[in-house]
Amino acid sequence: MTFPVIGVVGGGQLARMMAPAATALGFELRVLAEGPDVSAVSAVRKTPIGDYQNLAALQAFAEGVDVLTFDHEHVPTAHLRALQDAGVNVQPDPDALVHAQDKLVMRAAIERLELPNPAWAAVADVEALVAFGEATGWPVVLKMPRGGYDGKGVRIIDSAADAAAASDWFTAMSPLLAEAKVEFSRELSALVARTPDGESRAWPVVHTIQVDGVCDEVIAPALDIPLDVAAAAEDAALRIAAELGVTGVLAVELFETPGMGQGFLINELAMRPHNTGHWTQDGSVTSQFEQHLRAVLNLPLGATDVLGPVVVMKNFLGGENQDLFAAFPLALAAEPAAKVHCYGKSVRPGRKIGHVNLVGTSTADVVAIRSQATLVAGIIRDGRAPAEEPAHEFKETP
Ligand SMILES: Nc1ncnc2c1ncn2[C@@H]1O[C@H](COP(=O)(O)OP(=O)(O)OP(=O)(O)O)[C@@H](O)[C@H]1O
Ligand SMILES: [Mg+2]
Repeated sequence: MTFPVIGVVGGGQLARMMAPAATALGFELRVLAEGPDVSAVSAVRKTPIGDYQNLAALQAFAEGVDVLTFDHEHVPTAHLRALQDAGVNVQPDPDALVHAQDKLVMRAAIERLELPNPAWAAVADVEALVAFGEATGWPVVLKMPRGGYDGKGVRIIDSAADAAAASDWFTAMSPLLAEAKVEFSRELSALVARTPDGESRAWPVVHTIQVDGVCDEVIAPALDIPLDVAAAAEDAALRIAAELGVTGVLAVELFETPGMGQGFLINELAMRPHNTGHWTQDGSVTSQFEQHLRAVLNLPLGATDVLGPVVVMKNFLGGENQDLFAAFPLALAAEPAAKVHCYGKSVRPGRKIGHVNLVGTSTADVVAIRSQATLVAGIIRDGRAPAEEPAHEFKETP
């Protein structure tokens, strides 16, 4: 057998969702799992347990894999360089990955590439944060440069008085990243993939809706986006991939800012399949999970055409229903075209446990498609049909 072995560090839902793509192509997927109960364990055959912060555990895992890639960006950069020095094929390269690991490194790179950043500064203490706020205006967004996810590690500082309360963060990490709070019309995501040989492909720019710092819904493609803005955002993502030497999937999170500059600012980068790309599983010729595997293996990339005029992805987080499957008869009957993805995780409040994809037949239906996807996701989360009209009002976008 000459089929490749792909090693994924981290056993979350992203690693789990690579499994069907690997199976279809005949590749072997192995996952370095954080524990026996993580999401990918029930979907992948070989899931040794080990600490991704421990170099020896990473070295043992890398033995016998053709390429090492990631479910998250939290592996220490120095460990990745050590693995490379020992001959491991690490994709993306740590020199690229560091831009997804460290938001200060990322901001400096975006500036160097002359792509649109919000106003930002590295701030070493409360005084520097206050100085930044006084210069750019309050509120300010304060971020931990490393280790954040799902809005953890992001906080809004409303005033100089409020800045003093952030001293605990400076004790934990310094410097921190301060950014102007952007008045955006919506959040967008530009998703691309690139191979080590430099082939790259983009999916259309999508509209992403965040609730409490967590991706809640994606509308693909972003409706009514000016053609020049969509093209510039796609170009920016392809350029970032090429200039930073990214391999695999790259998500560029954007703030849409109509009438300002190119019409968008860059929020952050992720170098792995991303929540804003889950719609591709059922809504694109090639899913982001398959594309990531192809890309890290330096294989030709798949077509990124969209399979309908509009695709909606709706996440569901842990709620009151512990027995998700008990809700399936009602949920699946509510919308036969919905594709349900469950992550095999135990239910905890606020934890991402699954999502629903729904391909629409006309952009005029977007309100109905969003409402149906939300209905199915809500039935699984709550274990019952909504009592009345959904509280959430569906507006035409943006
Ligand atoms: N400068 C900003 N101005 C306005 N809103 C912001 C800014 N930075 C972040 N946000 C809001 O906070 C959310 C989370 O921020 P960010 O993407 O930096 O954090 P994260 O925790 O790393 O996210 P992820 O879950 O994508 O890894 C953004 O999606 C956006 O809604
Ligand atoms: Mg983000």
